Order: sequence, then C-alpha cells, then structure tokens
Amino acid sequence: MSASVDGAHTGFHTPVLYQRVLNALRLRADGRYIDGTIGAGGHSAGILENSSPNGQVLGLDRDPAALAQAKSRLAHFSNRLHLRNGSFAEVAEHAAWLGWTTVDGLLLDLGLSSMQLNDPARGFSFLREGPLDMRFDPTQPTTAGDLVNYLPEDELEDLIFRFGEEPRASQVAREVVRNRPLHTTLELAEVITRAVGRSRRRIHPATRTFQALRIGVNSELKALEVGLTQAVDLMNSGGRLLVISFHSLEDRIVKQYFRQESKDCICPDRQPICTCGHRARLRLLTRKPIRPDVSEVRANPRARSARLRIAERLELA
Ligand SMILES: C[S@@+](CC[C@H](N)C(=O)[O-])C[C@H]1O[C@@H](n2cnc3c(N)ncnc32)[C@H](O)[C@@H]1O
Repeated sequence: MSASVDGAHTGFHTPVLYQRVLNALRLRADGRYIDGTIGAGGHSAGILENSSPNGQVLGLDRDPAALAQAKSRLAHFSNRLHLRNGSFAEVAEHAAWLGWTTVDGLLLDLGLSSMQLNDPARGFSFLREGPLDMRFDPTQPTTAGDLVNYLPEDELEDLIFRFGEEPRASQVAREVVRNRPLHTTLELAEVITRAVGRSRRRIHPATRTFQALRIGVNSELKALEVGLTQAVDLMNSGGRLLVISFHSLEDRIVKQYFRQESKDCICPDRQPICTCGHRARLRLLTRKPIRPDVSEVRANPRARSARLRIAERLELA
C-alpha cells in the first residue's frame, strides 16, 4: 500500500480491500471508471494512478465535505478526475453529464467514512456528543432528530427492527418515546442503553439503533437498489461492478441482485415454461464475498465487517 492511500499516514479514511479492488477492476490506460462513493478518494487515487495516462474517473458523493477532501487530495489528477455532488442512485444522469453512456468499471464502497464518523458535528457516532443529524447530504430536510422525536412509536420500532435488526426494537422505541424530545447523540445512546441493557454484548448497545437511523435518514437501501440497476445498464462488456458492504442488509441486496442478473430466467421455480424473457447480463466472480484478511483488520479495525462482491458485465445485447 502506498503512503498516498494509507489513512494511517495521511489522516484520511483508509480504503478497505484496496489491492483487491484495484486488481478486480483490471484497470486500463484509456478506461472510464466510476467511483460512486468517492469519500476521501482513497480508492480513486489508486484507480487514477493505475490507469495513467488517460484513464478517467467520475467520482460521486452525497456529502459535499467528502467531495472537497477528494478534490484537494486528488488535485494532481484533476485533468482526469470529474467530481459530482449527488447520489449513485442517479449514476446514469451523472455519467450522461460527461457524455458517458458506458463505463469499464464501477465501485460502490457503501456506508460512511471515518471522517464522517469521527466528526461529532455530523451526529453519526454514539461515542461523541453531537446533534442528532446523520445526513450524508446536509441539504436534505430530514435528520435523525426528526425520526427520533416525531415518528409514531410503532413506526420507530419498525425502522429500528428492519434497518437495525435490533431484537429489542420495541423496548428501544418505547424508551425513546418516553424520553422525547432528545437532542444529542449521547442522550440518545444513554436512553437506548437503558432499554437494551449492557449485558454481555460484543457491540455497544446503541450500534444497531444508530445504524437503523442512519439507513432511514439517508434511504440507503433504496439508493442501493436503484443504483445497482443503473450501474449494470452502464457497464461495458467485460466491465466490472464492485460493491463493498458493511452489514448484512446491504450485502443481501447485492447478492440477490447479482444472482438475479446472472440468470437467463427468473420465473418462479415451479413454473414449467419460461415467460419472463429475462437474459443474464452479469457473470458472478464472487460466489462468496471477499473479506479482509487478519492483517488488514488489525491495521484498520473498521474493515472488520467489509464484504466485497464482484460481477462482470456480459456481452451487451
Ligand atoms: C466508505 S466511504 C467511501 C470511502 C472511499 N472509498 C475512500 O477510499 O476514501 C462512503 C462514502 O459514500 C458516501 N455515500 C453514501 N451514500 C451515498 C450515495 N447514495 N451516493 C453517493 N455517495 C454516497 C458517503 O458520504 C461517504 O463519503
């Protein structure tokens, strides 16, 4: 890993599965690549370095602060780097802005960056005092505080259960509603801890509820579903689509979508004759997701839950 990508040396977010991502993209000197979640630009730095002299990267991020970091870090690649503030759920529109109708590789490194997590003002961390915000895009109207303070109890429970897979969702929702209004991350974490109990859990009691709120605030699963469809449409024959996810809800969506798009027929199993007309568009390159090895997790504990799935676009119809 070069010093320019190692977050420990630069103070930036450390890109996970860095070398695996670069190898899987099979970078070419004239390729067009999309980094749908550019963050601090760690993966993009590698893509640009390894696709010189003419490889182009379109980098997207919903967070303007992340884009500003990527812009300054990657300034020496500015003639080959195009940055857009927006969601990968609109990746086709962003590509069209450059006149691109196809690309040779596309990466989604989901979730949030270390910079976002470590900035108390963003409200992502249950360990740091901050406002209940959690928006990737600060112009978006709904914050975590809105969900926490205004959702009816049954909807809050449903959100915490579905997006956080929190078995004690009903206790958490009840305790939150009893203590409203809540204003800060630490206040909320304390209420959740009371509801869930400290027990012998490996993870902090607020982990699942904070995950649920973040997913809800940013409509993350919906964005992933829409983004994947557009991504496959954009891929050139032989182009590689890579997704790194950090929890089972995201990974399930990627796995199911890749599976579906690798089949010639998606009719129900019991149906004797195919009526769907579906044709495979992807070849699966990872039956099981790629996980970071022990040394990566030791150097970057945040990589612990990362799972990389890769698919290749089949011949364009
Ligand atoms: C894990 S970080 C990416 C880190 C990056 N690969 C690097 O090496 O620095 C995820 C980034 O995705 C952004 N993000 C989350 N959802 C997004 C979406 N739907 N569209 C675009 N960016 C998104 C977040 O703001 C965050 O900056």
